[in-house]
Amino acid sequence: MRTVTATPAPPLSRARQAFLRDVLEGLQAHPKRLHSKYFYDAAGDALFQQIMHCPEYYLTRCEMEILERQSPAIVSAIRAVAPQADLVELGAGDASKSVHLLREWMRAGMGERYFPIDISSNIIRHLQETLPERIPGLDVQGLNGEYMDMLAKSGQAAGCARVVMFMGSSIGNFTPEEAVGFLGEVRRQLRPGDMLLIGFDLQKNPRQVLDAYNDRQGLTRDFNLNLLTRINRELDADFERDQFLHYPTYDPSSGACKSFLISLRDQAVHIGGALIRFRKDEPVFMEISQKYTPEGIRELAARTGFSPIRNFTDEKGWFVDALWLAK
Ligand SMILES: C[S@@+](CC[C@H](N)C(=O)[O-])C[C@H]1O[C@@H](n2cnc3c(N)ncnc32)[C@H](O)[C@@H]1O
Repeated sequence: MRTVTATPAPPLSRARQAFLRDVLEGLQAHPKRLHSKYFYDAAGDALFQQIMHCPEYYLTRCEMEILERQSPAIVSAIRAVAPQADLVELGAGDASKSVHLLREWMRAGMGERYFPIDISSNIIRHLQETLPERIPGLDVQGLNGEYMDMLAKSGQAAGCARVVMFMGSSIGNFTPEEAVGFLGEVRRQLRPGDMLLIGFDLQKNPRQVLDAYNDRQGLTRDFNLNLLTRINRELDADFERDQFLHYPTYDPSSGACKSFLISLRDQAVHIGGALIRFRKDEPVFMEISQKYTPEGIRELAARTGFSPIRNFTDEKGWFVDALWLAK
């Protein structure tokens, strides 16, 4: 039984109202789902940074290698199209990889304006505080909010090209069909001649892929379960974390790596005044991390109004940062 208190709960902020609406909508749907964009509170940001350093999570190492070694080549490929540009980064995270590109960008005199966009206010505050010191002269204009809202807000200076970065295989958090919709929307916010630098994780040995989402230290498990803790704290809910199992899957024929939380018993959870029932063994879909083939990447560019300029790959050939031109 829940304790009933005499003091009414304070009204929820707009962001929390949207969070509550999405959570209830997802958990009242069949099958149940939660949205992975809510993973990133302060604890989620810290866990994701630990995941990026764990031995099984090859994605960060591959993309880091590309940016450490090939930033000069990436910047020259961009400069061949536009001599100067504004840089906008969707879901910048801690920018630990992009920082290599940003340094090269400044060295090549490509421009000073950098607009990191992230849904995590914690991350934007951190970038705003640390980046200008790490890269003198960089004009950091952090934007805290949803990808598309903030991309629109970043605007476009007259006569200045834009390069949008979308790194870390974040496009993999959309299904291939959703990715077409999302990138089509990005394209509509750009002008012909603008560019997109976008990271894709490639299909590879299925064991390698699955291990990356099922690390031995249990960091990815904690990252998924942390969303239940966040819902408890922010939406007045009473999830018992240990009554859910982290269950990652990978389908090598479609390239879809999906994470679920499985209810370990019949249970009911209160969330912001609503009651949600879970059956024993019922899955809650948490996140997709889609793996691509080179043909799939080319097709995605063609379907969303971009033409590929060049692919930058790591030594193992596991990851691609693709540079596309808005047609
Ligand atoms: C997988 S991390 C990648 C971070 C960084 N790009 C990298 O490659 O290391 C995804 C980042 O995107 C942010 N994010 C997720 N969904 C978002 C959304 N809908 N709008 C804006 N930012 C979002 C998260 O807060 C997180 O920092």
